[in-house]
Amino acid sequence: MKVVHTIEALRDQMRGQLRASFVPTMGNLHEGHLSLMRMARQHGDPVVASIFVNRLQFGPNEDFDSYPRTLQDDIEKLERERDVYVLFAPNESEMYPEPQSYQILPPPDLGGILEGEFRPGFFMGVSTVVLKLFSCVQPRVAVFGKKDYQQLMVVRNMCRQFQLPVKIIAHETVRDADGLALSSRNRYLSPEERAEAPRLYALLQQLRQDVLAGASDCVALEQAAIDDLKKRGWQVDYFTVRRQRDLLPPSPEEMKEGVPLVALAAAKLGSTRLIDNLEVERA
Ligand code: PAF
Repeated sequence: MKVVHTIEALRDQMRGQLRASFVPTMGNLHEGHLSLMRMARQHGDPVVASIFVNRLQFGPNEDFDSYPRTLQDDIEKLERERDVYVLFAPNESEMYPEPQSYQILPPPDLGGILEGEFRPGFFMGVSTVVLKLFSCVQPRVAVFGKKDYQQLMVVRNMCRQFQLPVKIIAHETVRDADGLALSSRNRYLSPEERAEAPRLYALLQQLRQDVLAGASDCVALEQAAIDDLKKRGWQVDYFTVRRQRDLLPPSPEEMKEGVPLVALAAAKLGSTRLIDNLEVERA
């Protein structure tokens, strides 16, 4: 695997190659990321991965400074897996040589809800860096995890609106045996918090089961999950059922008609904010 830190070196490496299958990451790679790389490979060689902790998507009170940066470890993991042809690991001045005054603003009805409500500017930061990374790598396909469900939608819609020639592939969330979705932020959890953390997924599963069994009062189902989490000391940002197609709440008619749904949750355990989601599709 070649490791390059500049756009020029990346372009040198990619000269004469087919357009890549691309996996953008912020590093601190875990099994979830490695599985994205494997899926990228199935969509065609060469695979390009990137590691860049993107300041633009962090709020002023978020964990940009403490975000785990483990480049050497990440390189070793990727070398072992042998899926990646080039790792692009730019530093900040390579990606942002001047203040980023041109920015991609997702529409408020998608980028301003859920994560966008609790992390203002987050989807602007993600969209802007993803567009820049696409412009550096010029991939044919790019793989994103469903764990960041809204991010996946924002990126898909951006590609559609800007007619970017990149096919976005969704990868299922990778979980620990107890159901906790893998995330670089899980390492912030204390042992007690780690034991409690799978509760978020368990409640998403419970809600899914209730909807599949015919429950149609979303507000009551959401409130039951929120109350349960609060009782156990979580601080809940949202726990909500939305339509898959646009992440807006389903109407009572749509609940009856069986419109494809997704339950999404974000909540803090101690100082660690976890997000998760689960699709709910009735036959
Ligand atoms: O999901 C992530 O790791 C980041 O949001 C991404 C897509 C690499 C952009 O910085």
